[in-house]
Amino acid sequence: MKGKPKLSCARICNPTTATIESWDTMNKSSLSRRSLSRRSFLKASALAGVGASLAGASKAAAPLAPSSALTSVAEISQTRPRPAGQKPVHELTTKPRARVRVAVIGLHRGMAHVHACLGIEFAEVVAVCDLVPARADQAAEVCEKNRGHRPAVYGGTENIWEQMVEREVIDAVYIATPWRWHVPMALRTMERGKSAFIEVAAALTVDDCWALVDTSERTQQHCVLLENCCYGEDELFVLNLAREGVFGRLTHAECAYLHDLRGVLFSLGSEGDWRRDYHEHLNGNLYPTHGLGPVAQYLGVGRGDQFKFLVSTSSAEISLTEYRDQHQPDSVVYDAAAWSCFIELSVRSVSTGSLPVNIPDFTRGLWKTMPPLGIAEKA
Ligand SMILES: NC(=O)c1ccc[n+]([C@@H]2O[C@H](COP(=O)([O-])OP(=O)(O)OC[C@H]3O[C@@H](n4cnc5c(N)ncnc54)[C@H](O)[C@@H]3O)[C@@H](O)[C@H]2O)c1
Repeated sequence: MKGKPKLSCARICNPTTATIESWDTMNKSSLSRRSLSRRSFLKASALAGVGASLAGASKAAAPLAPSSALTSVAEISQTRPRPAGQKPVHELTTKPRARVRVAVIGLHRGMAHVHACLGIEFAEVVAVCDLVPARADQAAEVCEKNRGHRPAVYGGTENIWEQMVEREVIDAVYIATPWRWHVPMALRTMERGKSAFIEVAAALTVDDCWALVDTSERTQQHCVLLENCCYGEDELFVLNLAREGVFGRLTHAECAYLHDLRGVLFSLGSEGDWRRDYHEHLNGNLYPTHGLGPVAQYLGVGRGDQFKFLVSTSSAEISLTEYRDQHQPDSVVYDAAAWSCFIELSVRSVSTGSLPVNIPDFTRGLWKTMPPLGIAEKA
């Protein structure tokens, strides 16, 4: 892979304890590529945000929901009062159960959760759901092979998960779908009296973060972010050191998400299909929780301390475009034409007693300078 990824940077400041810096290899998107100024985009997305917010938990979630209904920074930064009738959930517990019945929606990353559940004696995968029926079937087969019991299978339409959440007797629903589905799925799950375990990040807008908080408090259901990085061996080691006071009083921490996503973002048939859009439209830190989660725990953020404000800066978007520009398809139209014209030309040759038939140069002379295709190029 040529070239090093350029870094964009987001900094999150907590003045009472620390400055947390978080770098993200994902570069800001080039709005100009779509002839959309940032201002007009924000305006458009603000309107889209109003729509998404009014739709609430509805299935009509906007494909991109980059802005909350409240457009001013001052408004959006306000802590919203707890609506009457809601109770805090910070001490919410669960009645012990001999068996925890689990459902999983989204069976790519979600297969990791299926396998994890199969490794826990008291967990049982009772339902699986994916837009692509073959993925749901495959997950069911894995479960059946492992436990001798086939989970209920839901698939084929993008709203079929609603039926699963409605009908099945489930304790917890794992949500491992594209980002735009996280909030509608989690809200409905909690409304139906089930715990929602959401892949990272939980939500894309501040409004949606509040919707998760309010619904969890109102329904008294757990809403858990599946931030696996908090459970890495290194992270747990450092957490333990912090708790033991080895560092003294923490005043500064840095965290990062270093992941070369160029391959992922241009992949087809998986995460790239939907994740690419966010990178094209949003200029900020699109994947904050892997870096932030463990460090927030070291600092006791949310438990004795709090995030106060953030500043965010992005470097110029270069690498993603360079990468895209370097990665042409393995074939161009001239190949399509040159390889296909043999049909007619061979028929004509046969009909004239196998006389030669000239083949047109569809490249119009470009063949002389075109480099070989990258198919067999060494990395
Ligand atoms: N924690 C981690 O380390 C980690 C790693 C990878 C992905 N993720 C997160 O997991 C989530 C999924 O990522 P992925 O890589 O599996 O994406 P993906 O696009 O490869 O897979 C998503 C799956 O969800 C299915 N799906 C889409 N819409 C659906 C709907 N309406 N109903 C049912 N199924 C639907 C798709 O068919 C697909 O099988 C994302 O939130 C991502 O950020 C987290």
